[in-house]
Amino acid sequence: MTPPQNQAGGHARNFYGRRIGKSLRPSQRRLLEDCLEHRLIPGVEPKSNPQRLPADLSGCFSLGTPIWLEVGFGSGENLARLAGMHPEVGFIGCEPYINGVASLLSKLEAKGLSNVRIHPGDVRELFDVAPEDSVDRVFLLYPDPWPKRRHHRRRFVSPEYLEPLARMMRPDAELRIATDVPDYARQAVVELRRNGNFRWCAARRADWMDRWEGWESTRYEKKAEREGRTSIYLNFARH
Ligand SMILES: C[S@@+](CC[C@H](N)C(=O)[O-])C[C@H]1O[C@@H](n2cnc3c(N)ncnc32)[C@H](O)[C@@H]1O
Repeated sequence: MTPPQNQAGGHARNFYGRRIGKSLRPSQRRLLEDCLEHRLIPGVEPKSNPQRLPADLSGCFSLGTPIWLEVGFGSGENLARLAGMHPEVGFIGCEPYINGVASLLSKLEAKGLSNVRIHPGDVRELFDVAPEDSVDRVFLLYPDPWPKRRHHRRRFVSPEYLEPLARMMRPDAELRIATDVPDYARQAVVELRRNGNFRWCAARRADWMDRWEGWESTRYEKKAEREGRTSIYLNFARH
């Protein structure tokens, strides 16, 4: 996989995700060719905005629409379901795995959902250009676990991601993290507290053991269940 170039800084940004896994089917290729363009967010892709000027996220939706972001939506099960349940919300999904982008597109097109924009790349490209206080809710579902200790700094719950994320979240905006890796949950609680911009909204065990209501099980949640791992559901609020 070729890492994306950080055109602004002129150097490649470390990137550990996959862009293309298994090869695309012709129908997926067609979806990407025909349906992705009008769901892109102008100014997020570095090539379209090499100076990294602020992007107008709210301009993608009607005036006053709240914006919810899903980072690493995988195949888009949760995003497509939420978009159907909440037509009053504008959704942004970031996912560099192009097969996942094609899966999300097929769900959105099948349901005729127009309230979703996609960045088919690294969420840090969105962070670079997102205006402050622009997002009302963020989902991070089963992020890459990076189990080896020397790789823990690559986890999303590290200052490199949390600082720009906090900037783009409005006061009181919610951050939801689901993981089946206890050490990931531990790091999330420690790093979010250390960051200083987030409050963990948990008072009792059920607050992190019980599944959130009204969300679609993602591919990785199903895998965790099949393999007998317990999931942890963390809710944080932006101060
Ligand atoms: C373990 S998978 C989980 C997918 C999905 N959320 C689920 O629950 O089935 C993690 C996903 O995060 C994506 N990802 C990793 N790094 C990312 C980044 N910097 N920006 C956006 N997505 C990223 C990966 O491509 C992958 O699809």
